Amino acid sequence: MFGAATGAASLCLARPTLAMTPPTRLVAAVGQQALPFANAGRPVETWSYNGTVPGPLLRYSVGDRLEVEFENRLDEPTAVHWHGLRPPNAMDGAAQLTQAPVEPGRAMTYSFDLNDAGTYWYHTHFRGWNQQDRGLYGIIIVDEADPPKVDRDVLLVLDDWVLTPDGRLDTDFGSLHEWAHAGRLGSVATINNAVDAAIPLTAGERVRLRLANVANAQIFALIFSGHDPVVIAEDGNPVAPRALGDEPLMIGPGQRVDLIVDAVGAPGSSHAIGAYTLTDEIRLGRFIYGASSGGSGLAGTPVAPLPANARPVLDRANARRIPLAMEGGAMGRMRGAMMGGRMMGMQDLVTNGRVWAFNGVAGDMDVPLARLRRGETVVIDMVNDTAFPHAMHLHGMHFREIERNGTPVDGPWRDTALMASDDRLSIAFVAEAEGRWMLHCHMIEHQAGGMMTFVEIAEGPG
Ligand code: C2O
Ligand code: CU
Repeated sequence: MFGAATGAASLCLARPTLAMTPPTRLVAAVGQQALPFANAGRPVETWSYNGTVPGPLLRYSVGDRLEVEFENRLDEPTAVHWHGLRPPNAMDGAAQLTQAPVEPGRAMTYSFDLNDAGTYWYHTHFRGWNQQDRGLYGIIIVDEADPPKVDRDVLLVLDDWVLTPDGRLDTDFGSLHEWAHAGRLGSVATINNAVDAAIPLTAGERVRLRLANVANAQIFALIFSGHDPVVIAEDGNPVAPRALGDEPLMIGPGQRVDLIVDAVGAPGSSHAIGAYTLTDEIRLGRFIYGASSGGSGLAGTPVAPLPANARPVLDRANARRIPLAMEGGAMGRMRGAMMGGRMMGMQDLVTNGRVWAFNGVAGDMDVPLARLRRGETVVIDMVNDTAFPHAMHLHGMHFREIERNGTPVDGPWRDTALMASDDRLSIAFVAEAEGRWMLHCHMIEHQAGGMMTFVEIAEGPG
C-alpha cells in the first residue's frame, strides 16, 4: 500500500514468503482524498478504486490467478482494463468492444492467469478522459519466480494534474482544444502524489525502481543526477540491462520502466530527479540520503538480466503488413474522415468531438483495422502524419518495434510505443489470442477524439 502522505512508496522486499495477499474486491466510487499539492492539503473529490488514488496495489507472483470482484458504485458505467497483461478477450475490459460497460450498482468478476512477470497497471476503459483523470487507476506487480536481488523494491507512479486557480482538481474535461492538441496536460506533475517527491535512499544499497506513467497525455523525459540507473524492463518485459548514461529516460503515457539504481551518493546528500515534459523543464523529485550507509553491498555489482517472459517467435519474412496512417489534430492536414459510416468534413467532425483519424476513419469501432488469423505474424506500419507525439497501445499482445523512420531496429517487447511527430514506426507481433483487441493512442484525449481502432483475431482456416 502506498499513499499520498508518505510521498515515496517503498514496498516489501520481493520475496515470495513476504508476498502480501492482493485484494480480491475493487470498488469504483466517488471519494475524498487529501492530495498534498491540491486544495492546501484539504481533501478533494476523486474517483477511485477502494478509496485511494492510485487504487490498491495488486501484487502477485507469476503463475498466480488474478481474481477480482469489481463493483461499480459510480453513477455512470465503467469497466476495468488490465494494461499490459494478456487476459482472454472477455476479461480485457475494453468497454463496448469486449464487454458491456458495468452499469452503476452492478458488479463483474475479472479472473485470469498471470503468465508474465513485470510491472503493469489497471485503469478504467470507459470515458477515460474523465474517469482516469479523476483517479481510476492502480498498479499491478507480478513478481518473477526468482526476483532479482535488491535491497528494496520501490514503486514510482508518475502523474500530472490540472488544478483550478483555487487549487482544486479541475474537472472541465471537454476541452476540444486539449483534444486537438497534445491532450490534457497537468499544471503540476507528481511522483506518488507528491510534488518534488523525496525518495529516500541509503548509501550502498541497490533498489529496483518501478516507474509507471499514468498521466492522461504527458510524456516525461527523466534525468537522474548523480546516479546511473540501469533499465531492466520496459512495459513489464525484461530487456538486456542497459545503463542510461547521459540519455534521458523517456516514458510516455501508459508505459512502465523498471530500473536498478545503486545508491552511490554520500550519506546526507540529495540528488535531483529532473524531467522534461511536453511543455516544461521541472524537478520531479529528489533522491534523499539518510545519515548512515547500509545495504547489502549489492551496489556496484553487475546487474543480471531478468528471466524472460514467454514470447512467441515472429515470422517476419511472412508477416502480413497493415498500413496505419495517423492524421488530424491542430496544425494537421486532415480535411475530413469517415464517422458513423459516412464521410464528414472537419467542421462536422469537430462538432462531434472527433479530431483525429486512423486510415481516414475517426474512431469508429464497427469495422476492424484488420481481420487476422490466429498464429500469424503481423506488422503494422504506422505513420504519424500529425504535429503531435502519440503513444500507441495494443491490447492483449506485446509487439516489437522493428523499424523506425526507415532504420531497422531491434526493439524490446512492449505494449505501448512512443512516436514523435512525423515518425514512421513499424511494430511486429504474433496474433496470439482470439478476439477483438484495441489499438489506440494512450493520450486519452486523442483516443476519445478518434485515435482508436481494433484488430479482430479468429481461428484460421486449416
Ligand atoms: Cu491502458 Cu486501452 O489502455
Ligand atoms: Cu495521441
